[in-house]
Formats: sequence, C-alpha cells, structure tokens
Amino acid sequence: MQNTKSYVQEHKDRFINELVELLKIPSISADSAYEKDVIKTADEVKKSLENAGCDIVEICETPGYPIVYGEKIINPDLPTVLVYGHYDVQPPDPIDLWDSPPFEPVIKKTELHPEGAIFARGSCDDKGQMYMHVKAMEFMTKTDQLPCNVKFMIEGEEEVGSNSLSWFVERNQEKLSNDVILISDTGMIAKDVPSITTGLRGLSYVEVEVTGPNRDLHSGLYGGAVANPINILTKMIASLHDENNHITIPGFYDKVEELSKEERAEMAKAPFSLEAYKKSLDIKAVYGEEGYTTNERNSIRPTLDVNGIWGGYTGEGAKTVIASKAYAKISMRLVPNQDWKEITELFKNHFESIAPAAVTVKVTPHHGGQGYVTPIDNIGYKAASMAYQDTFGKTPIPQRSGGSIPIVSLFEKELKSKTILMGFGLDSDAIHSPNEHFGVWNYLKGIETIPLFYKYFTELNKKN
Ligand code: BES
Ligand code: MN
Ligand code: MN
Repeated sequence: MQNTKSYVQEHKDRFINELVELLKIPSISADSAYEKDVIKTADEVKKSLENAGCDIVEICETPGYPIVYGEKIINPDLPTVLVYGHYDVQPPDPIDLWDSPPFEPVIKKTELHPEGAIFARGSCDDKGQMYMHVKAMEFMTKTDQLPCNVKFMIEGEEEVGSNSLSWFVERNQEKLSNDVILISDTGMIAKDVPSITTGLRGLSYVEVEVTGPNRDLHSGLYGGAVANPINILTKMIASLHDENNHITIPGFYDKVEELSKEERAEMAKAPFSLEAYKKSLDIKAVYGEEGYTTNERNSIRPTLDVNGIWGGYTGEGAKTVIASKAYAKISMRLVPNQDWKEITELFKNHFESIAPAAVTVKVTPHHGGQGYVTPIDNIGYKAASMAYQDTFGKTPIPQRSGGSIPIVSLFEKELKSKTILMGFGLDSDAIHSPNEHFGVWNYLKGIETIPLFYKYFTELNKKN
C-alpha cells in the first residue's frame, strides 16, 4: 500500500500548482469590492472537495459568505473527524511593501526555505493550510486508506469575526456532529521543532471616538483654550498601561488564570532564542509586562494594543488645526476564563470614566471571542502527537499560541468536541503582513502528516 510520503513526492508539483491557482483569487472578506472573488473561491473549494473524494459537497448559504460543507461517511459506527478552515484572506495592504503582487503567487527560495516558499496573501493563513487537508483527503480516498468518516466545513468570514459560521453551527448541530475537530490555521515552533497548539487567546476588539469642539478649529485662535481630542485620546490610551506594563482597567485581571511554577517551567523548556527573535524583527530590546518572559507575554498573558489611530491633518505639508474628533481601534487579547463580553464592558466603563469633561467619548465594540485551551491527555492530542512522531521523527511540543480563532470555543460549546490544532506555519511566514509566504516543505509535510492523524485517531478509538 502506498504511504503518504511517496504519494506526496509523486504528486507534489500538482499539489503546488493547484494551491497557486486558489491563491490567485483575492478572497478578501473585509472589503465588499471583492465579493465576487470570495464567492468564486467558495466554488473552487467545493470543486476541490469533490475531486478529493467527498460524496456530498454543498455550498451552504448564510446571511454572509457561504460555507463549503463536504462529507464522506464510510460507516456510521466509525469515528468522525470534522475539518475546519477558512478560504477568506486578510486585505493585502500596505501593497507597496510587497516584493511581488499579493495575488500573483511566486515561489522563491529563502534562507529558511531552501526548497522554496509560496509568496501570496493567504498562502499560509489559511488557504495553504486548509488545502493540505483537501490533499490529505485525496490521498486517503485515492489509495483506499480512509479509516473513518470525514466532514469539512470551510468558511469565508474568519478574518472578519466568523459571524455567519456561528449562525450556521447553531442551526446545524446534527449535521456537524463529530468526535474531534481538526484545524490547521496556526503555526509550529520551527521546521525541526514540531509543536501542537494547545491554546488560543480570546479577543475583544473595540473602536473609540473622542469628540471635542463641534468643528475643526484654527489651532492658533483656539489652541490652549479648548480640549484637543487627539491630545486627550493619546493621553487616555497611554494611561491604560502602568510603568510595569500592567493594564490599568479595574477588574481586567480578575479572572486571569495564573499558571503554576511547574507549568511555567515546562513552558520555558521550549526552544527559544531571544537573540534570534530580536534579530528577526530588527529590534534592540523586547518590551512587555514586567515579570514575564517573551513567550509568556505572547501566549498566557492578556494584552491591550492600539491597532490604528487617526484624526486631524495627515496630508502633505502642515495645516494648523485642532480636529473635532480623534479615533482609535484597540484590541485586547484575552486568556482562558476571561469573558470577552465582560472585558469589553469593563473597557467601555473605564474608558468613559477617564475622559475629561471637555470631551465626549464613544466606545463601539466590534467583535470578540473566548480563548481556548485543550488538554493533552485525550485521544485527539495523542493521535496528532503520533502522527508528527512518524513524519518528523520527534515528539511534538505542546505550545499555547497568542493568536485567536474565536470560533473554536463556540465549537466546544455547541458541538461538544475538542479541537486539535495541527498548524504547519512559522512565525516568519508574515501572515497578515506584506510578503506572506508558506514553505513548500511545510505544505508538503502537512499533507504527509494529516492522514496519519486519521489513522491513529481511528485506532485509538477502537481501543477505548
Ligand atoms: N489563523 C489566524 C490565527 C492564528 C495564527 C492563531 C497563528 C495562532 C497562530 C486567524 O486567521 C486570525 O488571524 N485570527 C484573528 C482573529 C479574528 C477574529 C480576526 C487574529 O488572531 O487576529
Ligand atoms: Mn487563519
Ligand atoms: Mn488570519
């Protein structure tokens, strides 16, 4: 019987070409100008699932972008794996900073990727990683090695908050019933240090608006006598962290789970070079919450960051003006047990309370979601670990990630199943940034590893 490695070797050029075609469609969910492209991408995903051997594939309409659902049920008594992924991508801007156009994929060799990496928006997040599952399915059906039932649910609104997916999951619990959820939309530590993501942070995303005078004013005639909303906004934002970089919102840390000394010691064992980290970002020093390491700061600790700030005159030259309004977009990354709606409320109350009487403040919540941690003593984690052991020759390290996939906690609540996060990306892949790329090696390794998860998951289920 053919193994995954030789199948991947035999078909790798086609696997790469197919992904390149998918990456050419600009499925930007945030920008309505790309609506047709988003829908076209869903159709292409549907075709790929049909070709990969799914018996049923449907485009499921939602209030927003469609969800592609596929399945192959070989025996209702066998376990069912539900694969989740997203076919939408982030906007590519700032477009000037791309070395090649974001929707004209090119394969280039880099220091980290001597085998080449595919440069395109969505190559890693998440078209490339999602497509590994489609090709893994093809391998299993074409070589008669599908050991259990499979369902696919690929959405088109992940990058804008997964609203339609929540709607869909709440209405289709029976259709989506499964024994484990499998996702590749995260990363791993390094090519020679495989890891499985065991945690995701939650998120609360808000927009704030500070209004001063009823119109833009001459900064000479009025300057010094009325509140400048930009001055006030920046002062308010600065006050949200203290000198130790702790967040000052009352109650913000109340539910934060403190890890035990042992857990922190275990985390610290993961290979990490601060020097290499700084070098990769061209920074002289790291910065963050007092008392925590870099890896702790970006995974087990909550944060507050301004994602964008604007107001006043930003065009060429100088204009003497006191703007009427100033704005900022702020995200808070949360850890398990922090409730995102509660945190949003705490933020709103605090931000309004610190505004001086000279301005009015409006806080508008955008979206959010709960964090997630998965235990490592379940069959799903064990099966994933055995799969990596086979293809990497090493036991993968469990690692919590700083990113968010808010829908994962909803899966647990609505579908009552655990999610296994088998990510094959690297931090250096530049997801959401210019020049996003995905290593060809990582892509093929993913296709090689995924079918082994199915094999071990089915075997371990039989024993239980
Ligand atoms: N795939 C990412 C999340 C991710 C990346 C998690 C790497 C862990 C490691 C996902 O597409 C994403 O970008 N999520 C958003 C949240 C969403 C609500 C827009 C994020 O984390 O900012
Ligand atoms: Mn993603
Ligand atoms: Mn993303």
